[in-house]
Amino acid sequence: MAIGKTKVAVIGCGLVGSTLSYYLASNRICNKLLLIDLNEKKAWAEATDLRHSLGYSNSKVQIESGSYGDCGDADVVILAVAAPYRDGMTRLDMYEKACSIMDSIIPPVMESGFEGIFLVITNPVDLITQYVQKLSGLPDRKVIGTGTSLDSARLRMYLADLMDVDPRSVDALCMGEHGDSQMIPWSQVTVGGKSFHHILKDDPNRLGGLSLDDVLKEITGIAYEVVRSKGATCYGIASVSGQIVRAILFDENKVIPVSCMLHGEYGFEGIYAGIPAVLNSQGVKELVTYHLTEEETARLNRSLGILEGCRRKGSEKE
Ligand SMILES: NC(=O)c1ccc[n+]([C@@H]2O[C@H](COP(=O)([O-])OP(=O)(O)OC[C@H]3O[C@@H](n4cnc5c(N)ncnc54)[C@H](O)[C@@H]3O)[C@@H](O)[C@H]2O)c1
Repeated sequence: MAIGKTKVAVIGCGLVGSTLSYYLASNRICNKLLLIDLNEKKAWAEATDLRHSLGYSNSKVQIESGSYGDCGDADVVILAVAAPYRDGMTRLDMYEKACSIMDSIIPPVMESGFEGIFLVITNPVDLITQYVQKLSGLPDRKVIGTGTSLDSARLRMYLADLMDVDPRSVDALCMGEHGDSQMIPWSQVTVGGKSFHHILKDDPNRLGGLSLDDVLKEITGIAYEVVRSKGATCYGIASVSGQIVRAILFDENKVIPVSCMLHGEYGFEGIYAGIPAVLNSQGVKELVTYHLTEEETARLNRSLGILEGCRRKGSEKE
């Protein structure tokens, strides 16, 4: 993709969409940024405020607000919308509400002539990504969700702090559902190229008395704690989404765990789940298939089975 002509549309300018827009503009990841929200005044205000942030910057990103009809020449359309949460809402209620929001967004975006890549952030992200793919009719390699990329970023930071190394020296990820059933394939985790199992074998106290399951609990639980304290999360998801967009626009062939369609990999067919994927200007180039241990395979099967079950229940309701 030619650098100098890239356009990204962010639909949903709430906390996540606006933080991500700031990341994209300040890191000069695209050339044009289009902000869209049901609340048009908010989209205009976010775009205007964001433009002001570039007054002393070397970023020349063009930022404006607009409508779905302006998405036709976008390379990437990001879906960061959410319905207001009401007490007592179940996950299935949230799924149904998010689907009905997508029903009002995807058809007009497709009518604009959009042929680029959708990046879905809206929760429940694996199920909504699958819904957007079906609704848009785009090839599944061009419809991606953030999946377990955020959980993986949290895991990398956690292990980097624990080992006192730069997080870029940690190769670690979460797989499966972006939610409670996700798992960590510990057999694939390395720090400075050394397998985490060997690290623990050489120094069993490295985890400071914690078990591997305690680490997983920490990674899945920390978001709830942040949400309880500040109402939402935004910086982590903005940063990982920005890096996914960069991998696409800069044709990086970068491996990031995202929500993508399985075609027999890990024994599952036709469901979206968080799996490491090679990302480039075509979207998902290929999935990374690990040789997992028996226990890891059982855990991943459980998580993918949960998504498959939700997917089936969801399609009965659609
Ligand atoms: N995937 C992840 O890892 C991850 C992480 C954090 C947040 N999220 C999800 O991101 C989503 C956004 O979170 P947030 O904190 O920014 O929410 P928010 O309430 O701050 O913002 C939502 C925005 O969506 C807009 N909106 C609602 N319906 C719309 C429609 N039909 N068309 C256009 N805009 C519409 C609202 O006006 C609002 O500005 C949520 O679903 C949240 O759960 C996902």
